[in-house]
Amino acid sequence: MSNHTLPGSYHSELVDTRAFLALDEHAASLRALFLVVLVWGMWRAWRFTIYPSLHPNEPKELPYLIPFLGHGVAFFQDSNGLLARGRKHFAKANEPFALTAFGHTFYVITHAKQSAEVYKNTEALSFEEFVQKLMRVNGSDEATIKNVYSPLPSDKPGFPNPDGLSMGVLAQRMHIHQLFPGDNMAVLQEKARHWINRQVSFDAIARDCGRYATTDSKDASIQLPLYKWTSDYFVQLGQYVYFGDVLAQVDPTYPQSYMVFDELLWKMLYQYPAVLCRDMTNPRDRMMASLRAYFRLPPSERRDQAAWIINTMEDEMKAIGVDDENLAIIVFHLYFAINTNARKTSFWMLSYLLRNPSDLAAFRAETAPAFKGDELSDISYITDTAKCPRVDAIWHETLRLSGWAASVRLVTRDVVIGAKTLRRGNRVMVPHRLLHFDEGVFGADTASWRPDRWLESDAARKLPSSASWRPFGGGKTKCSGRFLAKFFVTAFVATMLRRFDMEMVGEPPMPQPDIGRPVLGIISVKQGGDYMVSIKKRRDGGEGEGVKS
Ligand code: HEM
Repeated sequence: MSNHTLPGSYHSELVDTRAFLALDEHAASLRALFLVVLVWGMWRAWRFTIYPSLHPNEPKELPYLIPFLGHGVAFFQDSNGLLARGRKHFAKANEPFALTAFGHTFYVITHAKQSAEVYKNTEALSFEEFVQKLMRVNGSDEATIKNVYSPLPSDKPGFPNPDGLSMGVLAQRMHIHQLFPGDNMAVLQEKARHWINRQVSFDAIARDCGRYATTDSKDASIQLPLYKWTSDYFVQLGQYVYFGDVLAQVDPTYPQSYMVFDELLWKMLYQYPAVLCRDMTNPRDRMMASLRAYFRLPPSERRDQAAWIINTMEDEMKAIGVDDENLAIIVFHLYFAINTNARKTSFWMLSYLLRNPSDLAAFRAETAPAFKGDELSDISYITDTAKCPRVDAIWHETLRLSGWAASVRLVTRDVVIGAKTLRRGNRVMVPHRLLHFDEGVFGADTASWRPDRWLESDAARKLPSSASWRPFGGGKTKCSGRFLAKFFVTAFVATMLRRFDMEMVGEPPMPQPDIGRPVLGIISVKQGGDYMVSIKKRRDGGEGEGVKS
């Protein structure tokens, strides 16, 4: 071998070796890829073909491509779109189906009859797990959670407990005692009536909304961002009804902190890591501190103004040893239940009415007898279905289109629903929206806002008692505030329409719902979807001028 050939042959050997190695690597990659595809194919076949055929009694699963991730991305982006796809995929089966996202399996109930089975079965399907999780996320310690959910003697003093329930479950009965139609609810309605009469006035709005409203003295109008404004007003209303003026004196910025928190609540529901959700936890922690300060005030300075439920909750929780810190967390959840949904419902209702002038006029005309001059005087008129059937239809239609929640229960032991076995440890969900968009029940044009669908036949007038109608959930935990919510929203809208002419500024499109963020009831508006409305005192309303519409 010459000196020349040596390096050359060495080089060519090197090339050969490299080529060989490269080929080898290539073959190894191919082998690895083949193995991955093989394992993936086996997993797919097992998960979506073999396992279901071996377990025909379990709900079939909506197929997905990537193990563990499942439908996680679609679930985050548009959970209702995903659920609707699932329902379509299994349309023929008419039975619960399963859906996996981030390693968690949910059973999805899309048929009204099966949803009734879910709501009825409180033995095997637990709602408490969800409340306990919320308590934990918001800072309750395990000892308190255990204490609050341990059965109490049936002869305990205080609020009657004939069934020996835990305080956590007994609280549902306390809510009902406060919020179902009767004397106790009337106390709250009277407070709300007083507040609405005082605050929904031109001068109060011009004064209180100075930070975002503009007034035009030329045509005596105020321009307001509708979502921001209705939210602001409703949270103040809910707070006043439950705490009087006292909580506002302890913390004048409480409603503002609440609104920031409420719009970011989805981070809590998705359990974001602490560093990524300070914008949500900071206002929450401020509110917790203010509630603790509220309960530390001498009782004589606060209890007279508080709703029965707030005082009773305090007495009952303290009687079982719950401290101020944990009491604040429990009452914080109550504040949330009162305020999160009514504010958004009033926004959506006004948004639909402003785009449907004949319905707006009908709402105004129908509610006129509840007023003396400009004062809302009758607390029962507007929510009376016989006297205000169109208002009732507008209420239902607004909830049908803006209710975006799902009832979720933990399966605590294997249970059969819709002839399928749901396995312990998974969750079952009833997505309200899928029921509300059932064309077989609500008609072909379910995407349109059409209050007539609730009025046009005997069957239509029975829709509110149908099992397909679930904006408030169902069973024992069905929203106990639903009667008061209807009063809050319809009395507020009626007073607005009684006192003001209201117009949209420009021609804003119907705002879009923020479908990517989960809610516990009514959907939020997509960022940038708020729009300006202009209000002016009505010329034809007012004291002594009779009722015109
Ligand atoms: C349009 C407005 C409202 C909507 C759509 C709504 C919806 C709901 C929903 C979906 C639930 C969960 C039910 C379940 O999963 O079983 C719930 C629970 C609850 N809501 Fe409402 N709600 C509204 C207004 C109110 C108001 C104004 C109050 C109080 C004044 C209130 C008080 C409650 C309470 C206390 C619970 C817990 C029930 C329990 O565990 O006993 N809600 N609500």
